[in-house]
Amino acid sequence: MAKYNNNFQNLKKNYLFIEISKRISEFITKNPDVSLIRMGIGDVTLPLVPAVVEAGKKAFDEMGVKSTFRGYEDSGRGYDFLREAVGGYYKDFGVELLTDEIFISDGAKSDSGNIGDIFASDCDVIVTDPAYPVYVDSSIMGGRKVTFADFNTPIAPKDSIIYLCSPNNPTGEAYSHNELKAWVDVALANNAVIVYDAAYEAFISETDKARSIFQIKGARKCAVEICSLSKTAGFTGTRCGYTIVPNELMLTSSDGSEIPLIQLWSRRQGSKFNGVSYPVQRAAEAVFSKEGQQQIKESIGYYRKNAKIIMDTFIELGISFTGGVNSPYVWFDCPNNMDSWDFFDFMLTKANVVGTPGVGFGENGANKFRLTAFNTYENTVEAMARLKKVLLNKS
Ligand code: MLT
Repeated sequence: MAKYNNNFQNLKKNYLFIEISKRISEFITKNPDVSLIRMGIGDVTLPLVPAVVEAGKKAFDEMGVKSTFRGYEDSGRGYDFLREAVGGYYKDFGVELLTDEIFISDGAKSDSGNIGDIFASDCDVIVTDPAYPVYVDSSIMGGRKVTFADFNTPIAPKDSIIYLCSPNNPTGEAYSHNELKAWVDVALANNAVIVYDAAYEAFISETDKARSIFQIKGARKCAVEICSLSKTAGFTGTRCGYTIVPNELMLTSSDGSEIPLIQLWSRRQGSKFNGVSYPVQRAAEAVFSKEGQQQIKESIGYYRKNAKIIMDTFIELGISFTGGVNSPYVWFDCPNNMDSWDFFDFMLTKANVVGTPGVGFGENGANKFRLTAFNTYENTVEAMARLKKVLLNKS
């Protein structure tokens, strides 16, 4: 009989959001008439903006015409039109990228995990706690030792892989340029590689926060940046993102010679990835057009307004929280220091509001909870009214 990867024994039974869906389904089966408000997984509620829909439709029409039909994309790295559009976007915050350093993906989740393929299994991994669970799960699958760090206390064991996410999922905190520079400096000093997840970059509202790790001097020698259009432009169901791998970033082989990480990543993608569909890449290109940018700014503004409603509620209730300002997530203390799964059940059964238990993101979240601002305005207002009612009745 074929043997399986023993590392899977070290994973939790279910991936966090699958576990939550399972618990919601069980609840709905028992309580079919309840109207639940979902503020758990960070899934958007606004539809794709018109510029994106139009571009996607036009591209699908092209696929139905012999002269404009397209089959496999040659490299699987993404069409130049989209990679150039991404490069143009980065120029707006002062980052110059070569088109060949940009790899189009189906979103940040896959590449955050897949990047592990190119590192030796004895590289240590640093993950800030709490963190998006994909970093820990994929490191465990790869048989790597994971050490947890504080968001603002840079550490880098020699030759390690460091996962950073800013604005952070789940806490909503974002690095200033100086804070991020401290991580870059420590990574450079220890030949470590930073895998920087910038999936929530578009939600940054404070100007002192870094929009990309490549705004930091030296980052091109130690960092890969992973980004997604899921939250920025409502692509959670459409799927498109990008990963930036600078040419200068080198890894060491077992014989001591150096090899550019981009060479290994290209090789990995060549074998395992056939690219994102042409219509989706055309739709994604439209996100970066003038019209697309104006339209997605409105969507982000809508979610920001929801985040403000959530933050105002916690201020009123005297509950301490982070996030909301540069992020669609608000991360707060469970009342009376409740265990986060107990608070999940309390919210589900008493307020009929779904959130995410903090412990799902790490031990530092054991008594924390995350709500997203991605539901509708009306549902956000209603959820906060329900939350106030159950919490005030409780105390
Ligand atoms: C989250 O809720 O943390 C994210 O939406 C999950 C994801 O992007 O995979």
